[in-house]
Amino acid sequence: MTRHRLRLGVNIDHVATIRNARGGAHPDPVRAARLAAAAGADGVTAHLREDRRHISDDDIRRLMNEIDLPLNLEMAATDEMLEVALRHRPHAACIVPERREERTTENGLDVAGANLDLASYADRLARAGVRVSLFINPDERQVEAAHETGAPVVELHAGTYCEAAAGWARDAELERIERAAARASELGVECHAGHGLSFGTTGPIAAIPDIVELNIGHFLVGEAIFGGLESAITRMRALMDNARASATGARSA
Ligand code: PXP
Repeated sequence: MTRHRLRLGVNIDHVATIRNARGGAHPDPVRAARLAAAAGADGVTAHLREDRRHISDDDIRRLMNEIDLPLNLEMAATDEMLEVALRHRPHAACIVPERREERTTENGLDVAGANLDLASYADRLARAGVRVSLFINPDERQVEAAHETGAPVVELHAGTYCEAAAGWARDAELERIERAAARASELGVECHAGHGLSFGTTGPIAAIPDIVELNIGHFLVGEAIFGGLESAITRMRALMDNARASATGARSA
């Protein structure tokens, strides 16, 4: 199996949430993206929601024009978002399910049972040079269905794992993620993971060799209140690299 360096995508949505609590321009998510680059992030992730509760259209425009890191645009499978993605052509687009009343992205896409025409979204984005990922629950059936759409990437929803009590419940969720990631590798689908990751939960996910990217936001922005964003990202980057190095060492020993 090819070994990849584990990439870190920093999700800056909640810098915009704090800004929007008062209106105005502070704190600026584009400044956060610059800091993320300086602290070792490999990419920036931003979710343009239908209700624009955090990231705005102008944030997306500025992230595309002012930041060198690749942008991963999280978006619902709607015509409006497709038009935004085709206009800006970010490096990647992660298609997520979206419900107006939800506090955050609660679930993965039901690609297996979907009546959404995800294949046509994936195809139109791919033809514009945008790398498409589908955000799914860690379930082999969903990975297989995602593969059938032609999307080159899946992102596994790590929320249930992160919320499970430490011990057997969390271990069982970790195993689901491991199995789904292994299935993605078998099918030649690049595997990412994200949602809810923290200093306490990232290590075991970073150790999974089939996962090549983690997208982390809320925890890092929360930690930034206490120790600064750069320090939180630097610590997360080191934690990820150490977990991956120990796992690789243990497997080759
Ligand atoms: N990946 C996806 C697809 C998401 O929807 C989110 C939340 O916006 C994240 C990663 C980051 O999750 P968190 O903010 O909990 O770290």
